[in-house]
Amino acid sequence: MFNFKTKSWLPTTATAAVAGLAAISAITVSFISYAAAPTTPATAADYAVNKRMVINATAEEQAHVLTEMNEFLVALHTINTAVANKDFETVAKTASTIANHGKTEKPAVELSFESKIPSEWKAFSRPLRQGFGEVAKAAKQAPTIENVMVTMAKTTQNCVACHATFKIVSP
Ligand code: HEC
Repeated sequence: MFNFKTKSWLPTTATAAVAGLAAISAITVSFISYAAAPTTPATAADYAVNKRMVINATAEEQAHVLTEMNEFLVALHTINTAVANKDFETVAKTASTIANHGKTEKPAVELSFESKIPSEWKAFSRPLRQGFGEVAKAAKQAPTIENVMVTMAKTTQNCVACHATFKIVSP
């Protein structure tokens, strides 16, 4: 489903951004380390990460989002570790925490960030949370490593696709 190309010399143009916005089931995301020919040193602008759609945010909004992102990463690690230990209770608990985010009152910094994001952002964030709901369900109702990992692979596509699409810039 994903086609990861590392160190291709081909220019990427907006492949990553377009792919990120495409239907999640059909995306091809290319990670390119160097876009220029080998003899020409790549400039920062040649990198695919710098061709993503910019969301202008305050420093506080950016810090809030990046803090949440690190919590996502910790959750992935916690789930991977729990899967390895066949600790499906921890899988369900961790996945539910992400799935249920936003159901309680949101802090002002989150609401102000949400007022700035394009609708495409939600095309990744909503399925991400719903997908973690599926992970929790699998861990509770059909707890096998395979069932949990199939749902994890599906929801983590949204991490990859959103990262290929957006970057956050603060003053
Ligand atoms: C809706 C969009 C979206 C989704 C979904 C998403 N991210 Fe992110 N993430 C971002 C953006 C935007 C950045 C900042 C990138 C930049 O500005 O260069 C980011 C940054 C990060 C960072 C870097 C944090 C730092 O300290 O700099 C981590 C780690 C991360 N995300 C993990 C994840 C994981 C793991 C998932 C999935 C479970 C995920 N993200 C899902 C949009 C998203």
